[in-house]
Amino acid sequence: MKYKNILISENEKIATISINRPKKLNALNIETIQELHEAIEVCDENKNVRAIIITGVGDKAFVAGADISEFADFSVKQGTKLASDGQNTLFNFIENLNTPVIAAVNGFALGGGLELAMACHFRLASENAKMGLPEVSLGVIPGYGGTQRLPQLIGKGRAMEIIMTAGMISADKALTYGLVNQVVPLEDLIPTCEKIARKISNNSPTAISYAIKAINAGFNDDKDGYNSEIEAFGACFGTKDFKEGTSAFMEKRKANFKGL
Ligand code: COA
Repeated sequence: MKYKNILISENEKIATISINRPKKLNALNIETIQELHEAIEVCDENKNVRAIIITGVGDKAFVAGADISEFADFSVKQGTKLASDGQNTLFNFIENLNTPVIAAVNGFALGGGLELAMACHFRLASENAKMGLPEVSLGVIPGYGGTQRLPQLIGKGRAMEIIMTAGMISADKALTYGLVNQVVPLEDLIPTCEKIARKISNNSPTAISYAIKAINAGFNDDKDGYNSEIEAFGACFGTKDFKEGTSAFMEKRKANFKGL
């Protein structure tokens, strides 16, 4: 077995990666972050994988945060490196991946767990899920992108309240806030994510990766979102997927996208 802390399964162009430390409520230690990076990179390079689902093992937690036991005695320098390495290795990496990544939030998504879900392209939650960024109750702040992605997703005022109170919100509230796209019973969570992933897998993976980049550009101060869209739109015209998609439409058949 290559990985100690995660499980991977592949079915009909969909890879499911499950964080497997249920006794620690799937808390993210550095080793798990590295394993997730490697597994996601392998899936992204696999042309047969058209969507990735990330979830947690068990019925209690998606991820209950970064592993507190690992950083409790860190210095300023170590703390800075922890956040910087984590953001680069996993959170920004997922956000900018070519392959769509769906978070199946199956329980507690706290701290680094909610940050992981927010780095994914979108999120579904089970009815029992609870979400929050409790870092200030530990004397620290979210360090894996939480202070940036939470306001992007739900607005500044709501994000301020969630971060300052260190409280948890229910799945229903997360739905009202737009933090998750759907709330379903726990047993329906993975099947519902798979249904969406299958729909995605019928579309052009090349066009989807350009769409991800254009959407993300709008949230990046160093980029012009509209210009990024123009460039990505133009680039699509040079792809095999564009020829296949338009030909299939003219020929009144279903497109068979192979990528690029
Ligand atoms: N880091 C390390 N270990 C964690 C953890 C984390 N973020 N979250 C949970 N665990 C461990 C607990 O220490 C416990 O381990 P133990 O059995 O060896 O003592 C185990 O997971 C089960 O957690 P427990 O607290 O007993 O479960 P609970 O149902 O009573 O409470 C939570 C659940 C989520 C409310 C509680 O675990 C919690 O507050 N976790 C920390 C959340 C957090 O602050 N995350 C942000 C980190 S920056």
